[in-house]
Amino acid sequence: MSTTTKKTKIKNIAILCSGGDSPGMNCAIRAVVRTAIGHGLNVYGITKGYSGLLEGNFKKMDASSVGNILQHGGTILQTSRCPDFEKSEIRTEAAHILKRKNIDALIVIGGNGSFNGAYKLHREHQIPVIGIPGTIDNDISGTDYTIGFDTAVQTAVDAVDKIRDTAHSHARTFIVEVMGRKSPAIAMHVGICTGAENVVLPNQEIDLKNIVDDVKRGIDRGKHSSIIIVAEGEKPGLCHEIQKKLDSKHGLLAHVCILGHIQRGGNPSAIDRFIASRMGFEAVKCLLSNQFPVVIGYVEGQVKPLPFENCLKKKTEYLPHNLELLKALSI
Ligand code: ADP
Ligand code: F6P
Repeated sequence: MSTTTKKTKIKNIAILCSGGDSPGMNCAIRAVVRTAIGHGLNVYGITKGYSGLLEGNFKKMDASSVGNILQHGGTILQTSRCPDFEKSEIRTEAAHILKRKNIDALIVIGGNGSFNGAYKLHREHQIPVIGIPGTIDNDISGTDYTIGFDTAVQTAVDAVDKIRDTAHSHARTFIVEVMGRKSPAIAMHVGICTGAENVVLPNQEIDLKNIVDDVKRGIDRGKHSSIIIVAEGEKPGLCHEIQKKLDSKHGLLAHVCILGHIQRGGNPSAIDRFIASRMGFEAVKCLLSNQFPVVIGYVEGQVKPLPFENCLKKKTEYLPHNLELLKALSI
């Protein structure tokens, strides 16, 4: 792993969240703050991601500033998308701010976009950085898991179970939109966990005939309801487009339900709390042992540091064996 060999005395660290929030981010923040304080470090929380960094929104944190937060969704530090951070001159400004504030290392909780920003700060300005994977999409290369995925999937599964109740009572077909504009993970997991008849994944050609065949086969077998899970499209309206085409081209009436941002909120599951706590703890341990830049990933059941370069891409492929599973079980 190409981590630093130069001994840097880390005393002051900063932490921020960036990109979409995810349930469990608070657990990671709490773990970072308390582990760091336990080792005599000073921790500064930066509010609103890279935008907040550029605005100088730094606040010293203590053990009680992260009290009573681990069970809450969202992030106490808030988050943002900051397109300006893709400009090198803006990152230079950010590096100057970090240096002026005497920050020795930066921990970024976010997705692969946020990691690209953090890694550039390291490459261009030698800022020691650590990434903690936080996104409901579970779509960061290199790591098997990202904080928030389990909770988001459970939220969507609970909702689809409720939809299934009414769909069954009225013998209806529902198209349910889940999050993941570019990532198939939520749609695939929700589809399998709710016994969906079909699933539409991002960047996949939509095969209406295949959807209709699956629904009709179920009806012929005596099924009372059908659920089609659709990953949100790049533009809003994909579900309604599918609904219209199913009706006009195949005479299949379907109702649409868009789950939307409820999937990003809510109390983190035990799995998310545990992994986020472990990741936050390991992040500080890596800084203390001069192991950076690294992402604290989850690989084969282990939380461990990974080369940053491995975690800069988006995982967009789906596992064909999961589609095979869904199809095999929803006959
Ligand atoms: P995520 O981190 O969940 O993937 P985004 O892709 O929206 O979410 O990225 C979050 C933020 O990270 C962006 O708003 C921007 O500030 C920063 N970022 C994203 N991509 C890059 C990049 N290529 N270079 C520098 N900063 C980036
Ligand atoms: O954070 C990930 C995610 O929720 C994706 O699943 C979704 O495509 C996107 O963010 C939505 O982002 P926004 O809330 O900015 O519309």
